Amino acid sequence: MCGGSGTRLWPRSRKVKPKPFLPLVGDQTLFEETLARCSDPGQFAAPFIVTGNAHLEHVAAQLGGNDARIVVEPEAKNTAAAIALAAVLLPQDAVMLVCPSDHHIGDVVAFRMAAQAAAMLAKQDHLVAFGITPTHPETGYGYILQGEVLDGGFAVEGFVEKPDPARAAEFLAHGGYSWNGGIFAFRAGALMAELDRHRPALADAVRRSVSDGHEDGARFYPAAEPFSEIQSESVDYAVMEQTQRAAMVPVSMGWSDIGGWPALRDAREGDDAGNCARGAVELIDCANVLAETDGPRISVIGLEDIAIVVDGDEVLVTSMQGAQKVGKLHGATNQ
Ligand code: GDD
Ligand code: MG
Repeated sequence: MCGGSGTRLWPRSRKVKPKPFLPLVGDQTLFEETLARCSDPGQFAAPFIVTGNAHLEHVAAQLGGNDARIVVEPEAKNTAAAIALAAVLLPQDAVMLVCPSDHHIGDVVAFRMAAQAAAMLAKQDHLVAFGITPTHPETGYGYILQGEVLDGGFAVEGFVEKPDPARAAEFLAHGGYSWNGGIFAFRAGALMAELDRHRPALADAVRRSVSDGHEDGARFYPAAEPFSEIQSESVDYAVMEQTQRAAMVPVSMGWSDIGGWPALRDAREGDDAGNCARGAVELIDCANVLAETDGPRISVIGLEDIAIVVDGDEVLVTSMQGAQKVGKLHGATNQ
C-alpha cells in the first residue's frame, strides 16, 4: 500500500514527494526498503502495489528490478478498499501479505519469520495482524489484546484504536497487548468473504470497479465510477474489528511507522548523546537533537530535544514534544 502523505514530516515530506519515497532512515527510501524486505523469491511472489495516480511516477522510478503489478486507485478510499482491490485481482487462494510502504523495520529476519507464521494462520482462514511488542505507551497506534494460543500466534480478543494516554499506559502495565503494526496477512478469498459479510456495499463496489477496469501493461486501472461510491474506511474498522477470525502473530522487529520527527530520530543511528545530523550541521553541547539540511549550514549550541529541518526554502524548528503538531502548520497544510 502506497498511499499516505506524511504531513508530520514536513518540510522534508511534501505532497510532490511524500514520506514513502524519501530515504528517511538509511540510504534507501521507505518504499525501497519495503520492496527489499519482501524480495526473497523463496518466500514471496512478485509485489502488488496499490497506489494513486499522484504517486505513480515515484513508484515507477523506485521499483528497481521488481516485476511488480501496479493497481492504480481512482481515488484514495482508505485501506479497506485499497486492500480489497488487490484481493479481487489475486487468485482467491493466494495469501496476501499487506504492507504499508512507509514503515521502517530494523530486523528483516524477524519480519520474514513473522510473515511465515502469519501465512500459516492465513491459510487456515484467519485474518492475521502483526502484533508489535510495545515499548512505550504510544497513543498513535491501535492496540491488540491477545486471546487463546493458536499455532504460531494468538487469537485476537479485541482491538482498541488509538487510546488516550491513560489507557495506553494501562495496556502496557496490564500485559497481553501489542501494537497493531498495520501489517496483515489474509487469504484473498477469506478477506473478501469477511467484507461480503460486514461491508457488502464496499465489496460489491470494488468487484464492479475491477470488472469494469482496464489493463495497461503492468498497470491495472479499476473503473472510477463504482469506486467513488465507496465509503472510506480502514481495514481495521471494516474487517479486523468485525471478524470472528482475527488472529495475531507477536513480533519484535525494530518496527516504526516513522510517524513524525521524534520517531525518525529514534529510528536513525545517533551519536552518544542521541543527536543525529544530516548535511552541513555543527552541534555543540546538544542532546537528542535531530538536525538536517539540504542547503545552509545549521549550527546549534546547548539545546536538547529539538528538531531543526531545512528543506529548500522552508525551515522547521520544533521541540520534540511539539512535533506531533507539525501537520497543523500553515506550511504543512498548504504545500
Ligand atoms: N494505497 C493506499 N490507499 N494506501 C493507503 C490509503 C489509501 O487510500 N489510506 C492509507 N493508506 C496507507 C498509508 O499510506 C499507510 O501506509 C497505511 O495505509 C496506514 O494508513 P494510516 O492512515 O497511516 O493509518 P494510521 O497510522 O492512522 O493507523 C494504522 O496504522 C497504525 C500503525 O502504523 C492502524 O492500522 C493502526 O491501528 C496502526 O497502529
Ligand atoms: Mg500511519
